[in-house]
Amino acid sequence: MSLEFSNAEEAKDYAEYTLGVDDDAVKRLVLQSAITREMMKVLLPEKVITHLRNISGRGEQPRIADIGTGPGNWLFDVRAQLREEGINATLDGYDLYPTMFPPEETSKAENVNFNELNIHTKEQFIPLEKYDVIHIRYLSAAIGPEQWDGAFDNCMSILKPGGIFMWEELLLEKMSINDPTKWTNVLAVFKLNWSILRRNDVDPKLSSLFSTKLEEMTKEEFTTQSLPEKGQRMQAANMSMATKELVDRAVEHGEAVVKHLGLESAEQLQGMLKLAQKDFKEGCVLHMPVNRWTAVKPLVIATGRTTGDGSRDLESVQAGWTEVFKKWLC
Ligand SMILES: C[S@@+](CC[C@H](N)C(=O)[O-])C[C@H]1O[C@@H](n2cnc3c(N)ncnc32)[C@H](O)[C@@H]1O
Repeated sequence: MSLEFSNAEEAKDYAEYTLGVDDDAVKRLVLQSAITREMMKVLLPEKVITHLRNISGRGEQPRIADIGTGPGNWLFDVRAQLREEGINATLDGYDLYPTMFPPEETSKAENVNFNELNIHTKEQFIPLEKYDVIHIRYLSAAIGPEQWDGAFDNCMSILKPGGIFMWEELLLEKMSINDPTKWTNVLAVFKLNWSILRRNDVDPKLSSLFSTKLEEMTKEEFTTQSLPEKGQRMQAANMSMATKELVDRAVEHGEAVVKHLGLESAEQLQGMLKLAQKDFKEGCVLHMPVNRWTAVKPLVIATGRTTGDGSRDLESVQAGWTEVFKKWLC
């Protein structure tokens, strides 16, 4: 990805997270969460429920973490599903921006905990207690092409062997407009040089990480195209708000970012935003294709010398005994 900012530091800051982290962003995430719920229908698949039930059956309390949780919408939905299933679990949400967390009364009422954590900072994962299920949703805007492996390993480090990892991600490069010949203003905004956002490697990257580091991988595909009319209108509003966040963040970061997008001035960008928002109001829908990867952390890591939690794996224990026998026999 080529960055042509005049100031490298500025470019780096901008690249870190290009969406909003204020009250408006929280409102959009509530809307996006409702759209996702409608689109996916199933929050915790049967396999996850069975895993949690087995843990409860052993007299333990299952532990679930949501990384990049924002206002914790997914966790609150999980609490509701688990209540129906009669399962009590520890629910912990982590995010780099605590401004996104819900008010304390809300989190206390549902017994959901929130803590600050950067998915890219390994040291912050080390003291954490391990989890039975780890979930991530819509975090690719915060992960650069060279950061996937590190972020993935950090999450794996707090997943118990036998635990389940679920990652739901938007495929930016496969987004589509309901009528591209009609909604030219939306198209114009998305044709700008948003190269900083293009995570073209999301699908191959997550498929590869899940299939090499975990077992029993499944990949489910969803799209907002399948939603009824009301859901489509909600998606239009979601994308209108997301476009505003992107534009506001770009303008906030100044001239270098505006130039990188291929424009002369911030005013020009804001003018394009207004026209795009008009398109969204008048019927334009920008559709989100979303994949959900689910897989299980192996009890024994076949290739490495140690399991994710630092204990020695079965293969290396067996190799050690082979050495002892050889010595006895020789
Ligand atoms: C698009 S939102 C999704 C929020 C939530 N997962 C959901 O589905 O509603 C992305 C979230 O990632 C958080 N985030 C951004 N960079 C992060 C990082 N480096 N580590 C952890 N969280 C991060 C943002 O604050 C934001 O809450």
